Amino acid sequence: MGDVRFTGNWNSVNAHTVPKWYEDCKFGIFIHWGIYSVPAFAPHTWELGEVDSKEWFADNPYAEWYYNSLNIGKGPTYKHHIEKYGKDFKYEDFIPMWKAENWDPKQWAEIFKEAGAEYVVLTTKHHDGFCLFPSKYTHFNSVEMGPKRNITGELTEAVRDAGIRMGLYYSGLIDWQYANDPIFEDDDLFGTASPTFAYADYSYNQMKELVDDYAPSVFWNDIGWPTQSEEMMPYFLAHYYNKVPEGVVNDRFNGRYYDFLTKEYKSGSVNRNEKWEMCRGMGLSFGYNANEGDDKLISVPNLISLLVGTVANNGNLLLNIGPKADGTIPEEQVRRLKILGAWLKVNHDGIYGTRCSDRESELLENGIELHYTQKDGNLNVFADHLKEGANEFLIKGYHGALRPFDPAVKVETEDTAEGLFVKIPEYKEDMYVVGLTNRF
Ligand code: GLC
Repeated sequence: MGDVRFTGNWNSVNAHTVPKWYEDCKFGIFIHWGIYSVPAFAPHTWELGEVDSKEWFADNPYAEWYYNSLNIGKGPTYKHHIEKYGKDFKYEDFIPMWKAENWDPKQWAEIFKEAGAEYVVLTTKHHDGFCLFPSKYTHFNSVEMGPKRNITGELTEAVRDAGIRMGLYYSGLIDWQYANDPIFEDDDLFGTASPTFAYADYSYNQMKELVDDYAPSVFWNDIGWPTQSEEMMPYFLAHYYNKVPEGVVNDRFNGRYYDFLTKEYKSGSVNRNEKWEMCRGMGLSFGYNANEGDDKLISVPNLISLLVGTVANNGNLLLNIGPKADGTIPEEQVRRLKILGAWLKVNHDGIYGTRCSDRESELLENGIELHYTQKDGNLNVFADHLKEGANEFLIKGYHGALRPFDPAVKVETEDTAEGLFVKIPEYKEDMYVVGLTNRF
């Protein structure tokens, strides 16, 4: 792969394939951190994909959209802002309040490591246009304002030192420094909110700047690419792959290109035959929303179910954290990461480096769901939605021995004509999804 040179045309770029590391790694951490982490407010409404876009933007649960929610001049965020900060307080006035005074990138990297993450994706510039890196092309960045630190550079170093791959998110289409008409519906995204030729040049330069300065393992573009410079897209991709042959990009390139497909909450369609990635926050927002306490976040059992169901169907999970403005990760988010990490440690070989099995996930009549993965000819079976106490199920058509990854889980099996009959006599809730393998 390292010898292939890409040139700036689609024929060349289309020859790029998904690298093995990205197929193997299964679990990454997404980070949304920015000016919006100061007000940290959004209504806790719905998941993306549950309502039409007009409803969505009027009651937007994404705290990182604070600027737009304010800009539309009505609704819960607008009301909150007027009440708490007053009419004259502008979004930019939050910048000096973002101090990141307790930020320790090494400590973040340790938490990600403990969570079992094999890659990280940081928002280097979200839709508000504020850059978390020193840029030759703007002063509107975290080194000159706010935290006064190169967040992208410092975190990239800490993450790589911890042996984790570093990826970068960039809001390719939307930048409210260049076009700040309010977004009321999806049509506005490529419409009134889509900026100028000047922005098309600016974003192209910045994307190259990010590639050249940080060589990210994932280039995670958001929403789309300025239509004014669409013909530059293969140039950028060729430049990226030449610099980072093992790099990957997502599917937000105006339908023109992808290495992997994305699903975000209930939005996006994916399939078992192509590599995909599920991304979501722990609550309904990516940016920190101080409204979302522990009870509003995804439960630990649901989080582990999400991971297993994703991996068994050819996906990676890119789980988002929303740090506070001071640079600490909210305790209820850290707790989830730690439990997930402990589960992943035990079930390691059934998840990392696996591929989805020929056996598709199945929901049994008793409510138990079975998921399968395979690796080097071995089969791994994950039993989800078990009940406290005794559980029984049949793995149809499978004949052979299985053992639990977790030696603390008691499992009895019996080979029958229809398949392997499995009994888990003493299931406890804190075992979460039970992983079994035929590798001894
Ligand atoms: C979205 C959103 C956004 C979030 C994201 C993550 O389209 O606009 O706020 O960063 O994508 O997938």
